Amino acid sequence: MLIPAETNLEAWPPAALDIRIRLASMRDYDELCALFDELDSLHRAARPDLFQEFDGPPRRRDQVARLLAGRESTILVAGAADGLAGLAVLLTRSPSDFAGAVPRHVVEIDNLVVREDCRGRRVGRRLLAAAVEWARQRRATHVEVVAHDFNADALRFYAAFGFTPSTRRLMLAV
Ligand SMILES: CC(C)(COP(=O)(O)OP(=O)(O)OC[C@H]1O[C@@H](n2cnc3c(N)ncnc32)[C@H](O)[C@@H]1OP(=O)(O)O)[C@@H](O)C(=O)NCCC(=O)NCCS
Repeated sequence: MLIPAETNLEAWPPAALDIRIRLASMRDYDELCALFDELDSLHRAARPDLFQEFDGPPRRRDQVARLLAGRESTILVAGAADGLAGLAVLLTRSPSDFAGAVPRHVVEIDNLVVREDCRGRRVGRRLLAAAVEWARQRRATHVEVVAHDFNADALRFYAAFGFTPSTRRLMLAV
């Protein structure tokens, strides 16, 4: 990671934040929304052609409740002393019905965000490790994530953990 110019090098790298990774519950709803809002704002700022403002909360209560209810999805959170430091939304993808595809069981990281003031302190890495553990417990063969091309920080973050590029989605405005 790039070291900010004003950094006191004696205090670098910043210490890992003291967090506990756990499953989210509806009691976390307001803090989850604040984290979703950080992620949505980043996407809107970088890709206004794809992401727009919308009315209502960043995620509706029923949407969050559905993610937490089933065995096929969950939200992992990083709890810190002053509240949630990050979240990861995990979904189990339906297996392909194409006979030519090697059978795989894929868990997809649908959203992953660390609170801005907690970044660079190993919170994201711990959430990823917990996501992999959740996937293994469900006998998944792979964990996958889609990252936007603009998001060089996230791409480096996933690469540092061991993720490698797979397909490349191309688009053309017509
Ligand atoms: C990307 C993100 C989740 C990383 O979380 P984090 O807690 O800051 O990352 P960590 O401290 O766990 O970093 C782990 C490793 O990832 C890499 N990394 C993390 N942030 C990085 C950055 N900004 N630039 C380059 N590499 C980075 C480093 O190799 C780091 O290891 P190091 O600490 O030994 O240098 C966080 O910056 C974030 O929430 N960004 C905004 C939302 C986002 O882009 N989400 C992903 C959408 S797909």
